[in-house]
Amino acid sequence: MNHFELRGGELFCEDVPLAEIAQAVGTPVYVYSTATLERHYTVLREALVAAGVVDPLIAFAVKANSNLAVLRTLARQGAGADTVSEGEIRRALAAGVPPEKIVFSGVGKTAAEIAFALEAGVCEINVESEPEMAAVARVAERLGKRATIAFRVNPDVAAGGHAKIATGKSENKFGVSFAEAERLYAMASNSAWLKPVGVACHIGSQITDLAPMAEAFEKMAGLVRRLRGEGLHVERLDLGGGLGVPYFNQPEPPSPGDYAQVVAQATQGLDVQLAFEPGRVIAANAGVLLAEVVHVHQRPEGRLFLVLDAAMNDLLRPAMYDAYHDIRAVRPREGEARPYDVVGPVCETGDTFTRDRALPPFEAGDLVAFMSAGAYGASMASEYNSRLLVPEVMVKGDQFAIVRPRPTYEEMLAREAEAPWL
Ligand code: LLP
Repeated sequence: MNHFELRGGELFCEDVPLAEIAQAVGTPVYVYSTATLERHYTVLREALVAAGVVDPLIAFAVKANSNLAVLRTLARQGAGADTVSEGEIRRALAAGVPPEKIVFSGVGKTAAEIAFALEAGVCEINVESEPEMAAVARVAERLGKRATIAFRVNPDVAAGGHAKIATGKSENKFGVSFAEAERLYAMASNSAWLKPVGVACHIGSQITDLAPMAEAFEKMAGLVRRLRGEGLHVERLDLGGGLGVPYFNQPEPPSPGDYAQVVAQATQGLDVQLAFEPGRVIAANAGVLLAEVVHVHQRPEGRLFLVLDAAMNDLLRPAMYDAYHDIRAVRPREGEARPYDVVGPVCETGDTFTRDRALPPFEAGDLVAFMSAGAYGASMASEYNSRLLVPEVMVKGDQFAIVRPRPTYEEMLAREAEAPWL
């Protein structure tokens, strides 16, 4: 459930008409709903607790939406943060996420980033390879701080909505094998500078089938038992994120309740703290991208183009993953639906949000909303074509605040520096 709905013929976010935000801030702009973010976090947490999971650590994947207001909203609910860079750790800390709820993942952490994480006191560094384990030990020794680590295991399970976001097969770059995990865990347990506390996995994103998750989680539970059988100490099992969301017209994802059942079943009697790294399931349907129709262009040969002021640099998912986003009129006009190609102004054919989508009639100046854009929307935006970085707005009830303003062109240019010879 989300809080974007038509009221009296126009689309609202909670109690604010989207048209009012477009008027005040201009377009394109991302709009997030506080109530939806809170609801998604709470529903997931309650489902896990109801299934018998004691005190889960729900570490929101910051990459899905790294806006400080979003992170702060979730932190206030008790969420932790799953981070993959120093920048994300800094964001989580700035948003008030306690360091003991911050997980640091990623295949290529630099020594500087590892040092930053250790100084900050994050809850665990998810080590993804043997050279990375050695790097963490070196940095820990240099700082005189023992590093709390978990091993990210690649459970060799195929899952995920698109080849570019599947991570759990052994040909992917992520994590170590089960055999390596056992060997490295034992090595780390003997190191003065490493404190292994658990194992982690993340098999992919936009997963709409629970079977691969069940398979991966059972394999992970087996690993925990084997490690303990070797006398090693294991206190945490991080099951990653990946739960899909209902992008309109796509396969229905499992409910948080069904997901929680799979988790509970796979980890029954294991006596570990469970951690999760959900991103999309919390943020996707809590945000929309608002854009304005610049032109309606009917080509004489047939195709009907809806040219927007939003482009692939603002919402990359359709160009990058052929992703489907429901597109709605903010004030739908009466009349027969027609098949539109919805495009942005960027100079590439890839700047196409969808083709042949049946939509109600539009005129220049009308507003459209890309639904389910709260995850991997603004966080993947760029300034390609020297378009200003897209702003973000947070709504709560009948109030809204600009939580990332649109920069000015002067600011965009001022970030660059002169080369002395030019
Ligand atoms: N944990 C780790 C280690 C991850 O790599 C990811 C996502 C997550 C958690 C969160 O996964 P989620 O619950 O959001 O599925 N840009 C792509 C998605 C990339 C996901 C990368 N990793 C998209 O727009 O679909």
